[in-house]
Amino acid sequence: MEYPSDFITGGDPLGNPVARAKAPNPRLASVNVRLTTGERAEMEEFADRSGFRTVSDYLRHLHDQAKMSTVEADADGKKHREEFPAPSVSTYHSTRLGTMLCGDSLAYLRDDANRGSVDLIVTSPPFGLVRKKTYGNEDAHLYCDWFRPFAEGFRRVLKSSGSLVIDIGGAWKPGQPTRSLYHFELLLMLCEEYGFHLCQEHYWWNPSKLPTPAEWVNVRRVRVKDAVNCIWWLSQTPWPKASNRRVLAPYSASMRDLLKNGYRAKLRPSGHDISEKFNKDNGGSVPPNLLAVANTESNGAYQDYCRRHDHPIHPARFPEQVPEYFIRMLTDPHDLILDPFAGSCVTGAVAEVLDRRWVCCELNEDYLHGAMGRFDPMPSALNRTKSVTYSIQPPCRVPVSEEEVPLVEHGGITREPPGTARKVQPPV
Ligand SMILES: C[S@@+](CC[C@H](N)C(=O)[O-])C[C@H]1O[C@@H](n2cnc3c(N)ncnc32)[C@H](O)[C@@H]1O
Repeated sequence: MEYPSDFITGGDPLGNPVARAKAPNPRLASVNVRLTTGERAEMEEFADRSGFRTVSDYLRHLHDQAKMSTVEADADGKKHREEFPAPSVSTYHSTRLGTMLCGDSLAYLRDDANRGSVDLIVTSPPFGLVRKKTYGNEDAHLYCDWFRPFAEGFRRVLKSSGSLVIDIGGAWKPGQPTRSLYHFELLLMLCEEYGFHLCQEHYWWNPSKLPTPAEWVNVRRVRVKDAVNCIWWLSQTPWPKASNRRVLAPYSASMRDLLKNGYRAKLRPSGHDISEKFNKDNGGSVPPNLLAVANTESNGAYQDYCRRHDHPIHPARFPEQVPEYFIRMLTDPHDLILDPFAGSCVTGAVAEVLDRRWVCCELNEDYLHGAMGRFDPMPSALNRTKSVTYSIQPPCRVPVSEEEVPLVEHGGITREPPGTARKVQPPV
C-alpha cells in the first residue's frame, strides 16, 4: 500500500499498517531530568491522577500553565501600566561604558531593561531605618512589601549566570535595645518567594563606625558597637559565575613564613587534615567573607566637586571597595552591572574603571548632579592610597572587677542615676 509522504506507518495489534499523520513539528529533542526515586514516583502518581498518559505530557502541561501565567501577568501589568502610567526614567549622563538614569528604577527593571541582560546587580537600597535619612526610608515592617516589585524586576533582568548583591544595614527597634529583623526577612523573602539562592552572606565591617546608638552603647552600656552591614550575595541558580582567584588578599606575615620555611602536614586538633598542598603559593590568600573597609572619606574628589558646585553630598555612600570586590569576583570585562539605587554612583565609577558596562539609576536628581564629580575627570584608577590593614583588639583583655561592675539588672530600662556607673579599672 502506498501512503502519502506526510504519513508514517506503525502497526495495529493485528500487524496491519496504521497511518498516523506525521507531526508537523516532531518531538525529536529529549532532556534528562535528574530525580530522586521518591520524586519520580510522586510525579508519575500526579501525572496519572491528573489523567496524563506520560510524565512528559504532564511536564508539558505544567510548562504551558507557567507560560500562560506569565502572559497573563504581562497582560495585567500592561493594563495596569496603561491605567496608571508607570514612572519612567531618563538618561542623565552617558560615558563610554555606562549610563546614569534619573527616575524610579522600577521603570527600568520592568520596561526598559532587556530580560536576562544583566550580569550583576550590586546595590545598597534605602535601609529600613528607624531614624529616617533625608532621602526617605521605608519603615522596617513595610520593607518587604516595598521591596517586592524590585525583587520581581531583579529576577526579570538578571542572567541565569548572574548575581544579586545587596548591602543592607541593620536597624534598632524604636525605643528599645533590640534589633529589627527586616534585613533577615528580606533575605528569606528573596529566597523563599522569588527563588533566589543565598550564595554566601558577607559582612562589611566599617572599623570607623561610631558607637551607636549612643543611648544603648555609651549611656546605658547594655549593647556593643554595631559595626557591620550584612551583604547578601544571591543568585538565580546555585551556580552563578564566580572566582575567588580574582579577589585574593596578600598573604599574612605568618603565611609567607610558612611558604618560605615549609609546613609539616598533620592532622589539626579540629580534625582538619592539613596536607602538603598547604605549602603551595597561590599568589595570595582567599579572603574571608568579612570585608574590612573604613568609610571615612570626607575630603575626596567627589566631596570637593559637590562643595564646589553646591550639590548635596550623599549621606549614605558605600566605599568603592564594596562594589569593586563583587564586580571583580563575579563579572568579566564588558559584562553589564546594574545599580538600581545608585545614590552618588560609586558602582558606575568603579565599573567604568574595571572596563565593565554599567547602568546606575537614581530617583533623586540632586544626587546625580553630585555624582558627576566621579566622572569629571573620568576615573582612570581606583583609589588605593587608603588601602590599609585593620586590626581588631580582642575583647575581655581589660581587667574588670565584677563586684565593682555589676550587670545592668533591669536591662537598661531606665538610665542609671548620674554617679552610679562604676569605672573600669585601668590595666595594671
Ligand atoms: C543607600 S543609598 C545608595 C548610596 C550609593 N550606594 C552610594 O554609594 O552613593 C539609596 C539610594 O536609593 C535611591 N532610591 C530610592 N528609591 C529609588 C528608586 N525607586 N529608584 C531609584 N533610586 C531610588 C535613594 O534616593 C538613595 O539615594
